[in-house]
Amino acid sequence: MKQILSRLLEPIALLASNWIGSLGVLLTTSGGVLWLFMLPTLLRGEADNPYLGILTFMILPGIFFGGLALIPIGWWLARRGGRVPQPRSLRSFAIFLGVTTAANLLIGSLFTYRAIHHMESVQFCGQTCHTVMEPEFVAHSNSPHSRVSCTECHIGEGASWFVKSKLSGVRQVFAVVLNTYSKPIPTPVHNLRPARETCEQCHWPQKYGADRLRRIATYAEDETNTRGDTVLLMHIGGGGSGPGIHGAHLGEGVAIHYRTGDEKRLTIPWVELEKNGKKEVFVASTAKAEEAEKLEMRTMDCVDCHTRPSHTFDLPERAINWQMDRGGISPALPFVKKQAVELLKASYPNSAEATRQITDKLKAFYKDKYPELAKAKVADIDKAADTLASIWKRNVFPAMNVTWGAYPNQIGHTDFPGCFRCHDADHTSKAGNTIQQDCNTCHKLLAMEEANPKVLADLGLTGGQ
Ligand code: HEC
Ligand code: HEC
Ligand code: HEC
Ligand code: HEC
Ligand code: HEC
Repeated sequence: MKQILSRLLEPIALLASNWIGSLGVLLTTSGGVLWLFMLPTLLRGEADNPYLGILTFMILPGIFFGGLALIPIGWWLARRGGRVPQPRSLRSFAIFLGVTTAANLLIGSLFTYRAIHHMESVQFCGQTCHTVMEPEFVAHSNSPHSRVSCTECHIGEGASWFVKSKLSGVRQVFAVVLNTYSKPIPTPVHNLRPARETCEQCHWPQKYGADRLRRIATYAEDETNTRGDTVLLMHIGGGGSGPGIHGAHLGEGVAIHYRTGDEKRLTIPWVELEKNGKKEVFVASTAKAEEAEKLEMRTMDCVDCHTRPSHTFDLPERAINWQMDRGGISPALPFVKKQAVELLKASYPNSAEATRQITDKLKAFYKDKYPELAKAKVADIDKAADTLASIWKRNVFPAMNVTWGAYPNQIGHTDFPGCFRCHDADHTSKAGNTIQQDCNTCHKLLAMEEANPKVLADLGLTGGQ
């Protein structure tokens, strides 16, 4: 018995013949054994907890592969020192090496496969560095893309972007550990993969086609929260219905380039339209062409308009209007719009305090100004307070200095400059053309903050839906 055991263990003793080799054997074995303990959890897919994820997918593989690398180093050093121990039986030593290498390859490839899989998950991106990504994570889970993982837009297909993202990931881990990252994380992302390579994995610009009806409810800050409806017919285009918005910038044979010296891409002094090989340059009246031409150039893609396709943050007025339309805040509460805007815009140190103060102040307002109603509509007031607190928590993250408007959405032109960065009728070409600002170019304005617009009645869309 003792003999068999010593024969079995002999190769290990040989590999561990100096301290580096011993450390290697120790680390590899403990990494492997610990990993075997984690195996049942892994197979049940329960490693979604970010900390467990870091342990199973980063620390254990680190120990395992680190140990594995030390073994040959130890062996090589021993050889150089002329202390290469000779195995008693070369054949059993070779079998041992063969079996352990196969086992290591199996464990190693499972590690790598699961680790890559895990690093693509929304949990990994959003929760591993909890505070840093919290704003994007929270916003993402409430967006049309909540089922699209972060990496599908941020990395996309193909090995080269995967490697690039892992390299920048290492830099980011250092920034987090050393606390040198910017708060908020700056936008736009200057090294983002060109959006057409990622978005077009799922969206097909030639296919958007039809016009789309948008109805936007607004409430005034008066006692009755007077409601108005804006109705727009968006000429999305790109398909059979003419070039429209998509076709004008991304259609067949069209490319739009622009230059800006502004990190945030908010002022755009120089725009070039390339259409079927012909180029036309539009320059803002406030800029000088020669100077603008020295600025960095970018070709327009999806994210120049869809700056917030996934993690969209709201402004207080917009979020409140939306909730008043959907019943999260009852429009029957007098002055509720005005109160809500004031309460959301005030500053609070953290979400617990925000929830407490918003609730207390809203209740106090009705108790003080409308005591009868405060008693009759307790449920409505409570619900409004809850809704307001959740809007705040969804959009404001003091730990990351993310507050209202930190991340502009450039899809329109009312809250942020958006389309009007170029479409301001002030960018003129040598031929005397300007980039259009006509109100019916991009959408047909069917109603603007109107009470009960006829167009909605005609479509059978009256009432708060
Ligand atoms: C539908 C595509 C899409 C998905 C899904 C997505 N993002 Fe983004 N993200 C973008 C785009 C586009 C930008 C850049 C906006 C710009 O450059 O103006 C961005 C920017 C960011 C930024 C920079 C700061 C900011 O908000 O602009 C962070 C951080 C970020 N994303 C994290 C995440 C995380 C974490 C997830 C998953 C929870 C995620 N993203 C999912 C498209 C996406
Ligand atoms: C992995 C697939 C996938 C990728 C990648 C993707 N999207 Fe989407 N996107 C979707 C799906 C699915 C929907 C529809 C969600 C729904 O209707 O509930 C959607 C919806 C949208 C919408 C409509 C949102 C609305 O309010 O109705 C826009 C705009 C959009 N995506 C833009 C983008 C942009 C820009 C990118 C690249 C930065 C992108 N998408 C990348 C799958 C994807
Ligand atoms: C010039 C600005 C601009 C560019 C560039 C742009 N979009 Fe859009 N897109 C819009 C506008 C505006 C809408 C309409 C939004 C609305 O209805 O509220 C829209 C709507 C959409 C929708 C929703 C379509 C529907 O029928 O509901 C999707 C999906 C979309 N875009 C994806 C993309 C993708 C993918 C790209 C890049 C290939 C892209 N967009 C490039 C401005 C743009
Ligand atoms: C970087 C500059 C730039 C931005 C930002 C931009 N556009 Fe454009 N757009 C152009 C240029 C250049 C043209 C072509 C010149 C023209 O036709 O007036 C154009 C043309 C158009 C056209 C076709 C006009 C026509 O007369 O047929 C539509 C529609 C349009 N854009 C919509 C939008 C919308 C909607 C947005 C915002 C979501 C937007 N654009 C943002 C540069 C821009
Ligand atoms: C270059 C394209 C473009 C031009 C020109 C344009 N708009 Fe818009 N407009 C948009 C887009 C895009 C939206 C955003 C739709 C959305 O919310 O998805 C919008 C939204 C709006 C809204 C709704 C605002 C809200 O509360 O969300 C109003 C009102 C409006 N436009 C009025 C006008 C008027 C008035 C003009 C003429 C001065 C005009 N627009 C010219 C592209 C344009």
